[in-house]
Amino acid sequence: MANLARGDQVKKVVVFGSYGQLGTDLVQTLKAKKIFDVLAFDREHVDFADEKALRSFLNLKVGAVDAVINCVAVTNTTFCEEHCEETYKINALPQAVLAQYCSKMKASLIYFSTDYVFSGEKKKPYTENDVPRPINIYGTSKLAGEDLVRAYCDKHFIFRISSLFGIAGALGKGGNFVETMIAKAKKGEDLKVIDDQIMSPTSTSEIARVVCHFLENNLTSYGTYHFSGRGECSWYEFTKAIFSQCSLSNPVTRVSWKDFPSALRRPEYSAFDTAKIAKLVSVPSWEEHLKNYLILKGHTK
Ligand SMILES: NC(=O)c1ccc[n+]([C@@H]2O[C@H](COP(=O)([O-])OP(=O)(O)OC[C@H]3O[C@@H](n4cnc5c(N)ncnc54)[C@H](OP(=O)(O)O)[C@@H]3O)[C@@H](O)[C@H]2O)c1
Repeated sequence: MANLARGDQVKKVVVFGSYGQLGTDLVQTLKAKKIFDVLAFDREHVDFADEKALRSFLNLKVGAVDAVINCVAVTNTTFCEEHCEETYKINALPQAVLAQYCSKMKASLIYFSTDYVFSGEKKKPYTENDVPRPINIYGTSKLAGEDLVRAYCDKHFIFRISSLFGIAGALGKGGNFVETMIAKAKKGEDLKVIDDQIMSPTSTSEIARVVCHFLENNLTSYGTYHFSGRGECSWYEFTKAIFSQCSLSNPVTRVSWKDFPSALRRPEYSAFDTAKIAKLVSVPSWEEHLKNYLILKGHTK
């Protein structure tokens, strides 16, 4: 791992998708550090589905830059399954434009990918060396995005992240799982939660911390990293942990994903092995991610 000496020059960092769940935390975390001059953009500034518009926006509004961080994506997996072309236009193709631009500007490019690049057959935590085999349009589009980033920009960090919850809530999904479960519990709704899909829950403020660490310390160990809360759980176990930390005593029934027939296939197992990134930055457990999130959101003290 090559780790350059810490520079004290202000770095110009551009964040696309800045109103999204992850983008909101990233902008806030970066802006809190004097070392970053942050430019935050969203759909109202440029539509990622319009290649020409994106190219001219980069040339006219971005100019010279040290790092580009792309949080733009279509994240609603059901929508993606029914809108292949639109999904690829946003999740895949713009990565070529951004990567070519960053390469020309000698800037770093940060792209967020997903646990959904894996099929879920492994049943042991996925490492960066495992061969991806996505089983739905969202996963294939994000993997295509990864390939374009790698093809056109050497100075890239691809962070594969998983099962996000953030203060802003995912715009593409209309909230986040933690808030949905707490709201349902408070309304006294019957709770049936899937116990046979295993993943690694992750707080977006933790991802923002990691990205900040990489940029602040001028890390040059470019490549692909898995980052999530350490460990794994089912959605049922995650719900039980949310309720336990919030002192909610609602009963929760375990169900199988097979009880909810859907055309959309999801990996049954997509937990991450985070050993590679743990050599560079701390990787708290998913329970700690949840604990900090609940405090930040004002659910617990
Ligand atoms: N959410 C998860 O559980 C999860 C898991 C693994 C990986 N990821 C990855 O993490 C990243 C951030 O996800 P997130 O949860 O923060 O998503 P999000 O809240 O849905 O935010 C996505 C952002 O993309 C913008 N966007 C969508 N289409 C656009 C377009 N055509 N032009 C310009 N902007 C557009 C959205 O703006 P509008 O509101 O205007 O559409 C929004 O600001 C994504 O790369 C995602 O694939 C997410």
